[in-house]
Amino acid sequence: MLAAYADGSWGKYHGAYVPRWEAELAAYHAVPHALTCASGTIAVEIALRALNLPENAEVLLAAYDFAGNFRAIQAAGLRPVLVDLAPDSWRIDTAQIEAAITPETHGILVSHLHGDLAEMPKIMEIAERNQLQVVEDACQSPGAMIGDRKAGTWGDVATLSFGGSKLLTAGRGGAVITSRADIQQRAKIFCERGNHAFPLSELQAAVLSPQLAKLDAWNQRRTAAVARLRDATRNSAFWISPAPCEGNAAYYKVGWFLADPATRAATSARLREASIAVDAGFRGFARRPSTWCRKVGALPQARRAAEATVTLHHPVLLASEAELTRTIDVIAALAGA
Ligand SMILES: Cc1ncc(COP(=O)(O)O)c(C=O)c1O
Repeated sequence: MLAAYADGSWGKYHGAYVPRWEAELAAYHAVPHALTCASGTIAVEIALRALNLPENAEVLLAAYDFAGNFRAIQAAGLRPVLVDLAPDSWRIDTAQIEAAITPETHGILVSHLHGDLAEMPKIMEIAERNQLQVVEDACQSPGAMIGDRKAGTWGDVATLSFGGSKLLTAGRGGAVITSRADIQQRAKIFCERGNHAFPLSELQAAVLSPQLAKLDAWNQRRTAAVARLRDATRNSAFWISPAPCEGNAAYYKVGWFLADPATRAATSARLREASIAVDAGFRGFARRPSTWCRKVGALPQARRAAEATVTLHHPVLLASEAELTRTIDVIAALAGA
């Protein structure tokens, strides 16, 4: 920040920091293209638009996801189709994707949520077989590994967020990454309105660059902390840790299911009283009117996730040993583990 201040970049439309950050993001993900933008929310819309799907085409997404993703599909002139989550997880149920596909379906928007990872190899195989294009939303999981590839490198295009609560943060910001030159080109054209309409600033790029060098080490430390937390709640009948996903996750808002959703407000309040940053998960889309979207089945897992998810915000995972131990003890006591 001081360097960007000293050299005047802070007050300029264009400077060295945004292009450098885009090059660093691309290199980190081993993809040729990264385009920064104002938020993860707009990154998802840019990514969808860059796929160039037919007007009004159907896009599958999990019935439990970040609210803006449903809206992004609509904003891009496309139609959301809700698919349930796999049991006891926050990942789209790959067993239900194929049955959801109709001749109108042209895309899938898939997110990695709450420290869980979507089954990208399987999703890409289904997508290829059915000629669908995939947006991979990695806003919550920069640096996670799925097989031997980073989250965000599986889909035709992927999104990242640098919002104020995220693992890489500039307060606001996002990016679209892709290996496809045509997608990069269309994304740029959509953003270009005589000027970049949804830009990341020089100052934001300057504060992000140094964070990337630390991301892998931070992810490792967070993973070790989550393993301890999971262990501490392992024997709880009403505080349920989903089985760890395959691959190396990145933990942003670490999720649990409460066996009794009716206890969620009181549980969260007790933890917050103890200065532990927990939140309810997303509200999900299962209750949205059928005039807005097509629903595949009754979506029981997504409904449950919307009612029963609690998430722990990541900063405590990098806190001091004493603070982490205190958090684990409080959660374990509350979980009766
Ligand atoms: C899965 C997912 N996608 C997209 C976003 C949007 O990111 P931003 O807050 O940068 O708009 C979020 C934010 O929490 C998210 O969790």
